[in-house]
Amino acid sequence: MDILIRSDAEGVAAAAADILADYARRGATLGLATGSTPLGTYQELIRLYEAGEVSFADSTAFLLDEYVGLTPEHEQSYHHTIRHEFTAHVDFDDSRVHSPDGTAADPWVAAQEYEQAIIDHGGIDVQLLGIGTNGHIAFNEPGAALNGPTHVDTLQPQTIADNSRFFDRPEDVPIHVLTQGLGTIQRAGHLLLLATGEGKADAIAALAEGPLTTMCPASVLQSHPRATVIVDEAAASKLHHRDYHRFVEENKLPRKN
Ligand code: F6R
Repeated sequence: MDILIRSDAEGVAAAAADILADYARRGATLGLATGSTPLGTYQELIRLYEAGEVSFADSTAFLLDEYVGLTPEHEQSYHHTIRHEFTAHVDFDDSRVHSPDGTAADPWVAAQEYEQAIIDHGGIDVQLLGIGTNGHIAFNEPGAALNGPTHVDTLQPQTIADNSRFFDRPEDVPIHVLTQGLGTIQRAGHLLLLATGEGKADAIAALAEGPLTTMCPASVLQSHPRATVIVDEAAASKLHHRDYHRFVEENKLPRKN
């Protein structure tokens, strides 16, 4: 995988937006993440759109995940969040912004339908990812099947605590989620994972330098042929090989894959 280290969160956002804008210019299918990490990237993409440098008119989007039980109108539903933070501010066709149905009578059926919708569409070209402090990607918590499909998962206490900042009270955070599986994610053509801040340093070290294990779901990026990890200095601070990654990027050297 390529690991790009930037001095701060703005640098991470600029590098990620450059990559995503290139895909959008080709009308690609974008896999979108929510959470706080990609917000700067979305702001940069909106800026590029307003400057006439990119259009999303030919793109389709699939979100990574959704809370079970939140209606699309709920402020913290990912259906609402992605529109509020990104797609409503650019020329994305709203009918082409897809997410799992968190209000379905049977969430397991909704999971299967979402998996099938991604397959029927022809897959995802580039998948944007954040990472949880426990190494989760999308809502695949430690222990998730390494090659699993979109499914219903139960959040771990750490993730509920991390996400409670978005809700009035910790007990308002839904316990159940619909999430693309690690298998779904690995079928995307290019994985683009972002992390900023010291709180993500352990997870980034585990993802890049630990074993490939379901105990760190993000470590599946190690087996993907095209994975790019963009981190700031703080999130990179526990990588033993960070000087090597800087050297490789500065000298435009070929990587192992
Ligand atoms: C969001 C998602 C989650 C977040 C992760 C990090 O769609 O799938 O995996 O990417 O929880 O969240 P932040 O960026 O808020 O630290």
